[in-house]
Amino acid sequence: MKVIHVSAECYPAAKVGGLADVVGALPKYQTNLGYEAAVVMPFYDNKYAKETKYKTDFRCKVSLAKNKYKAKVYRVENSFKELGYHLYQVQIEGLLDRENVYGYEDDTERFIAFQKVVLDWILQFENAPKVIHCHDHHTGLIPFMLTQCIKYQSMRSVPTVFTIHNAQYQGEFSFEKLEYLPEYNLEQSGVLEWDYAINPMAAAIKACWRYTTVSPNYMNELPYAATGLDWLFDTEREKSVGIINGIDTDVWNPSSDKMIAKNFTVRTVEAGKKANKQLICEKFDLDPEKPLVAFIGRLVYQKGADIMAGIFDRALDANDINGLVLGSGDPHAEYLLNELKDKYQGRYNTFIGYDEELSHLIYAGADFLIMPSRFEPCGLNQLYALRYGTIPVVRTTGGLKDTVKDIGEKGGFGIRHEHVTVDDVALAITRANKLYNNTAEFKRIRKEIMKIDNSWENSANEYIELYNLIAQ
Ligand code: ADP
Ligand code: GLC
Repeated sequence: MKVIHVSAECYPAAKVGGLADVVGALPKYQTNLGYEAAVVMPFYDNKYAKETKYKTDFRCKVSLAKNKYKAKVYRVENSFKELGYHLYQVQIEGLLDRENVYGYEDDTERFIAFQKVVLDWILQFENAPKVIHCHDHHTGLIPFMLTQCIKYQSMRSVPTVFTIHNAQYQGEFSFEKLEYLPEYNLEQSGVLEWDYAINPMAAAIKACWRYTTVSPNYMNELPYAATGLDWLFDTEREKSVGIINGIDTDVWNPSSDKMIAKNFTVRTVEAGKKANKQLICEKFDLDPEKPLVAFIGRLVYQKGADIMAGIFDRALDANDINGLVLGSGDPHAEYLLNELKDKYQGRYNTFIGYDEELSHLIYAGADFLIMPSRFEPCGLNQLYALRYGTIPVVRTTGGLKDTVKDIGEKGGFGIRHEHVTVDDVALAITRANKLYNNTAEFKRIRKEIMKIDNSWENSANEYIELYNLIAQ
């Protein structure tokens, strides 16, 4: 293989958010463009694992200080045929083989062990990959280990690319855990350090050959984004590039999607969306005659979860619309969103949880999708919405700014707002409702957005150009 992607998530093997979608699709598009890509990720004891056949590719032991663990690298049988690239999963008994991706007390230990096994595995390849592409902080120690650790010095010339999907999560841990890392020249500890702790994201930015963000605009924002690494982003900027995410148009395709009630194309969008909306309205006791404004996402501060109930309360009070939320996260936000159900019975509902199939149905049946994000490195929801003829209502930030143009501008097709306040978002929803009532214009835009090309092809090529710049 030419490039190996290292990630904690990869769709369909394990997904928490957009990281999984990106790592699950980009390698397929790169391979299609003639640049053979593979993925290595942890093995989790989840539904996918139970339904999947594995072949053992490599065995080793991995130690964290005095504790030793048995590790295997599995190759997912048929992955090339089914996913378009080879998928490998690292199984570490007692560490990685649990149901969830994150959220355990020993996540630091789990991901350090994962990264060490990945490098031990690559070390015994006959031909090293041309590039190792790491995603987010769970893989951020790899560029450090490759450049500084004695054990891996034979691979020092393998270039690394590090992609930042979300700079707020950095994976910091105390120097007391330094003994978990392989031996290196201690004078180089500065590469690991940020703010008196070991910071995998900072270490990756310092040690990698190039780093990228998932949209150009997020790259511009990073030096001012209050991540605590602002100064680092400013000084390391020369080796950075912003590349916008794409979407997997095989998975996200309204004309063939098996998870929706009725398939449709640009030509049949009216009937298609109507049927999908009808099913949602039946399931959630909503009114199919009124516009449907939805939110899908993690209920966290980044996504505006703390004001989500306030937004729907204000918007439903001021407009004759339906509201629907699919998400989980902050328990207080979940509670407030559930509370709203009584007040707006027949017009509003909440589904607390994670449901891939339902998300597809909502993209297909909703009229508008709101994303009142405080920051958004790229955002995939708005791209899925566009492809399914659902008009995005987004905060002007990060990748949302790069991908959504307001209807007030020439060629505009979405609705943007500047602030993450109840007032501002509710006003944007009122604009959406007005657009809905201007039926001819609404229908025209709905058709136009389905034609926008946000597929991975262009961006997959940009990554390949970046690899060619640094690889021999
Ligand atoms: P982030 O990675 O920050 O969560 P993105 O917009 O990049 O945001 O990607 C979110 C992905 O997760 C999308 O594929 C979206 O459909 C999916 N998603 C988020 N929450 C849920 C949920 N509760 N149920 C189903 N899918 C969800
Ligand atoms: C992160 C970001 C999101 C981005 C996704 C995939 O989770 O929050 O904006 O789309 O990664 O790159």
